[in-house]
Amino acid sequence: MASLTVSNIRKKFGNQEVLKGVSLSVKSGEFLVLVGPSGCGKSTLLNLIAGLETINSGEIRIDDQVVNDIRPKDRDIAMVFQSYALYPSMNVRKNLSFGLETRGVPKAQIEETIRHVAQILQISELLNRKPSQLSGGQRQRVAMGRALARDPAIFLFDEPLSNLDAKLRVEMRTEIKELHQRIKTTIVYVTHDQIEAMTLADRIAVMKDGFIHQFDTPQQLYDNPANLFVAGFIGSPAMNFIPCRLVNQGNQTGVMLENKAGRSFFMPVEQHDLDVKKWLDQEVILGIRPERIASGFYEQEGNPMIHEIECIVEVLEPTGPDTLVFVIINDSKVTCRVSPHAVKAPGESMKLMIDMSKALLFDPGTGQRIENQTAGSTGCT
Ligand SMILES: Nc1ncnc2c1ncn2[C@@H]1O[C@H](COP(=O)(O)OP(=O)(O)OP(=O)(O)O)[C@@H](O)[C@H]1O
Ligand SMILES: [Mg+2]
Repeated sequence: MASLTVSNIRKKFGNQEVLKGVSLSVKSGEFLVLVGPSGCGKSTLLNLIAGLETINSGEIRIDDQVVNDIRPKDRDIAMVFQSYALYPSMNVRKNLSFGLETRGVPKAQIEETIRHVAQILQISELLNRKPSQLSGGQRQRVAMGRALARDPAIFLFDEPLSNLDAKLRVEMRTEIKELHQRIKTTIVYVTHDQIEAMTLADRIAVMKDGFIHQFDTPQQLYDNPANLFVAGFIGSPAMNFIPCRLVNQGNQTGVMLENKAGRSFFMPVEQHDLDVKKWLDQEVILGIRPERIASGFYEQEGNPMIHEIECIVEVLEPTGPDTLVFVIINDSKVTCRVSPHAVKAPGESMKLMIDMSKALLFDPGTGQRIENQTAGSTGCT
């Protein structure tokens, strides 16, 4: 187990700067997930940490040691790739032992390690099979077993579940989480799946275009995203973004929402921060999650932040426990999460309640959050 510190790392391939000053700190035993769209530099960052690529500038430290110039095999890191990279001609036992043999580990110790790892990952029955005789999930376990057998200070995982079907992905996700709880090793795990990120991580780093846009706990990212990108990336179905104007009505500040029939509804916003006042009479983007627009809330009675809006139902998507109702507000398509028995048919008018206490405001020009209702968010660009 070790801590990992990445400071202001830059990486260019030819003229293309892929990482533009990335900093991260991973505590000893922490599960860090790096998430972001395809091509944002996740694998590149992992390869730099492993030493498979060289950095242009910046510093990588494992515990107190700077490892910039240390060879990959001396970094005490094990990496599990998306493709598993198992040796096809070797059976599972040999795949697990090979790395240890080349490092001169005594035979008896190798035997004991394989027995232990195979037991943890439930692959004891598969030790004599070749990779071609295994299912995707079993291959994935063997790849993890090979990393575990090395007993490294840090594990790096690069999208280890992306080759599996949806059901197996969810099963293996739970297994990886259980494994981490048991062995408590430092893990950096790359995925572009935000649900995987939310469920696995102690902390998540959200990357885009070679920058880390926010680095925080899953709940903080969900509740207090630093900008439109993070807000839209984390959460499924995605947060609604509604262009609107910030106005004063009576002694309250709020946004005006208009339904398809042209009827306006005033929605007050929380005013913890003076920043909101600076935006009076200007265009802003209201961010509100689908579950905050519903047919009603338990805590609704007398709550000054819950307001009614009437909309025409456009489309329904039943998910089982909830039905997603799509309506038009301020000419934007808005997703609402409604209890199935409260749903109206498409074309009918429906009363919806909006919980503005969780609503966020964004600058339409920069995409940054306008107000910061809760301290402690560590948004950074
Ligand atoms: N060896 C390389 N030579 C040149 N360009 C590269 C190299 N490796 C990566 N790149 C480029 O760097 C950018 C980041 O690639 P990277 O593989 O890190 O993305 P990623 O976030 O892992 O994406 P994905 O989710 O698709 O795996 C891409 O534009 C890619 O084409
Ligand atoms: Mg990648």
